[in-house]
Amino acid sequence: RRPAELARDLDVSGLVDAEGGLLDRAVFTDGSLYRQELRRVFAPSWLFLAHTDQFHKPGDFFTTYMGEDPVIVTMDRGRTVRAYLNSCRHRGARVCRADSGATRNFTCTYHGWSYDLAGELVSVPNRDGYPGSFRTGDWGLVEVPQVASYRGLIFGTWNPEPVPLTEYLGDMAWYLDAMLDHDPDGTVVVGGVHKWTLDGNWKLAAEQFATDWYHVNMSHASALMLLTPEGRRPRDEIVHRTGRQYVGDNGHGAGFPVHPKNRFDERAVHDWTDYAALRARLGDARVEGPLTNGHATVFPNFSYLPVNGSIRVWHPKGPDRMEVWAWTLVDRSMPPEVREAQRLYNLRTFGPSGIFEQDDGENWSEVQAISHGFITNQVPLNYQMGLGSERHDGTYPGRTSELYSDAAGRGFYAHWRELMNTPAWHEQEPTR
Ligand code: FES
Ligand code: FE
Repeated sequence: RRPAELARDLDVSGLVDAEGGLLDRAVFTDGSLYRQELRRVFAPSWLFLAHTDQFHKPGDFFTTYMGEDPVIVTMDRGRTVRAYLNSCRHRGARVCRADSGATRNFTCTYHGWSYDLAGELVSVPNRDGYPGSFRTGDWGLVEVPQVASYRGLIFGTWNPEPVPLTEYLGDMAWYLDAMLDHDPDGTVVVGGVHKWTLDGNWKLAAEQFATDWYHVNMSHASALMLLTPEGRRPRDEIVHRTGRQYVGDNGHGAGFPVHPKNRFDERAVHDWTDYAALRARLGDARVEGPLTNGHATVFPNFSYLPVNGSIRVWHPKGPDRMEVWAWTLVDRSMPPEVREAQRLYNLRTFGPSGIFEQDDGENWSEVQAISHGFITNQVPLNYQMGLGSERHDGTYPGRTSELYSDAAGRGFYAHWRELMNTPAWHEQEPTR
């Protein structure tokens, strides 16, 4: 079946001037664009699902979303992590309503159809009532066709023939490794998943994590003062810091200050860290740059803060709302007291109670709240900082710009525009 909305293509070329650094606010507010975004940006892209540490034995599961589509991520009997659309093939209820847990089957609470860990329909109450043509084999859960992981991060895509995940990440993997590859044992999740709702389009958050260091000194001024021992204005080395911004080819972005003495802010993590070993493993450029500070986005809606071990997804909930889901990662080799220090540091700074997170969310909601105004909506936004500054700098992989720059933001929206204007795989032949 071809959904009727596929007949209506909105050309977004006039809304995104990535070359000139202008953006139309309709990309945050328009309901039709939002529907097109779900089918052309979210459906074909690699989307973050979960961390491998959430699955230890067959039947462990975690429920999440890909765009607005609910999915179950679970480990099957062969210990492969698979993902299914969390919607019963009978009348469409979710077959799993828990956030996470362990099970043998997913049994729908509406009429009782039950599916095993391979997604097969294995039990149907009043089975004899169905015609002879009814085959349980035809009514299994819809499976996410491609699931792959990168150093503990599990991604999935509905695109049956995507570019491989590592190719999609490209140079972004080098920056991701600054958080994920401190030692051979990788990372684990501590605590649960924090979830909260914000007024604001998901792209406001995703683009900021990709590109926006400009807001830090202003928006987080009071928070920076709290981190200053004297409790007065932030230290000059914070206010005047310099750094780089990675501009990824597929809309990814990462910004980080560069400092030869770069180190973890949290005392216990700093004291425990073997910086010489990190330099040997990751190289000086990464230790002095993306390792201990900054933020980044893997297009479209996965972001992270290496210094906090915070990873998060900005789930779209209509054009005007997002749900933020955040995990805290630590190095597997960290002893319990250092893990706990890292967890608390992350909670104090980011997450629903974090002093920095509060500042950021307020800005996104502020921008969204007024963008529906008729006149306001027609006034474009400025993304011109660092225009034309992207280059291969010889130190960092891929193209980079200055720390304070909109370059990765322009890259983010250029990739968004390309996807929005390109028919996805499901538009090239009728879906069934
Ligand atoms: Fe699931 Fe009817 S909707 S059994
Ligand atoms: Fe911020």
